[in-house]
Amino acid sequence: MAQKAKRRVEQRWMDSTSGVSVVNAVMERVSQMQLFQLCLLLLGTFVCSGLARGEIPALREESGERLMIGTAIMSSQLDDPARAALIASQFNCVTAENEMKPDALQPTPGHFTFERADRIVAFAEAHQMKVAGHTLLWHHQSPAWLFQEPGGKPLSREIALNNLKAHITGVVRHFKGKVKSWDVVNEAISDGPEGLRDTPALRAIGDDYVLKAFEFAHEADPDVELIYNDYNIECDYKRDRAIKLVTRIRAAGLRIDGVGIQGHYRLEHPNADEIRRGIQAYVDAGFKVMITELDVDPLPRKGGEGADLSASEREGLDPFRDGLPVEVQTQLAQRYEELFKLFLAFPQVSRVTFWGVTDADSWLNNFPVKGRTNHPLLFDRQGNSKPALQSVVNVLRN
Ligand code: G3I
Repeated sequence: MAQKAKRRVEQRWMDSTSGVSVVNAVMERVSQMQLFQLCLLLLGTFVCSGLARGEIPALREESGERLMIGTAIMSSQLDDPARAALIASQFNCVTAENEMKPDALQPTPGHFTFERADRIVAFAEAHQMKVAGHTLLWHHQSPAWLFQEPGGKPLSREIALNNLKAHITGVVRHFKGKVKSWDVVNEAISDGPEGLRDTPALRAIGDDYVLKAFEFAHEADPDVELIYNDYNIECDYKRDRAIKLVTRIRAAGLRIDGVGIQGHYRLEHPNADEIRRGIQAYVDAGFKVMITELDVDPLPRKGGEGADLSASEREGLDPFRDGLPVEVQTQLAQRYEELFKLFLAFPQVSRVTFWGVTDADSWLNNFPVKGRTNHPLLFDRQGNSKPALQSVVNVLRN
């Protein structure tokens, strides 16, 4: 026994000294300058790696059980490992920015294309994230055949209802148990004084089309949460009409769990009091509230939303192509701080979803003017956190 133990010790000694001699041999061939370069390379790798990124506070951890923190993504973003890691580490809920919309899921009648949306769902499952479904019915990004004849004439109510039911049933059943909530109808309320927006669905079915969509969604999955989603429905000019619609859905005996306030904000508009009043109104009416598409646009706008700007005006309205100046960066951080304080004051606000991950992804690079360099989110174009992230984290911590 003693002999065996002695041999083992000798063997270990030989192994370790041969390791030392290998290192010595390498060191003899490497100049000091090369060693210095190697150290720099290792340091750079560390700084760019997940280790260094780990020092960035993770929103999903900071928010704990209190609030779900989401982001909108495209499946192609998952091809980039750094982007995928950022999404998984920061957020615990995803929305498909485009790939669950009607034109993405059923481009031609009866032909469902779930691959890209399924990829997002699989990613979410692999990283313990929830999925917020967006959206079963919208007047944009919906194939014309759903509600119109080839010449544009509205389909009969019966055929349009059949198409709507087939779409909603096919989609909701496919994602049953995988999607936590559905934005059943998106942006049905008009910005003008009339109630509902004039859309192909309204023209073909009539003004109960919103109710029918909620009915079909609940039939397809009685367990999934159903949301009405829209922009500016917290604002004074639109709020009453939105409350009328959601209470009408509920009064018809249909399931509706809450409202999705999109939250496409600017630095100063709408002001905090108006947003607070809006959330309070839904809470008072007994609805849950989700902030479903949050971003803060720091770029100037000449007119209102959708202003038709000429190319020369566009030049003047794209002032931050080389980056956001410190003072605007600070204003952005302060605005996010104000918004999160406001949201967290309401226990009924159960989720906040950002509309995009980094500034490079944002739809606001192309709205209301195409091709601008916008900076509305918490991560810059390289995926680095901005001061706004820290201000959100501070509010979550406190
Ligand atoms: O898929 C086509 C692609 O085939 C084509 O090559 C490319 C060329 O422009 O366009 C691609 O479609 C684009 C699509 O996003 C997918 O990337 C459309 O042009 C573009 O208009 C579309 O924009 C989306 C927009 O909804 C559509 O109205 C934005 O990414 C998306 O962020 C935005 O999201 C909406 C919410 O769903 C509802 N609330 C408002 C919000 C912002 O508009």
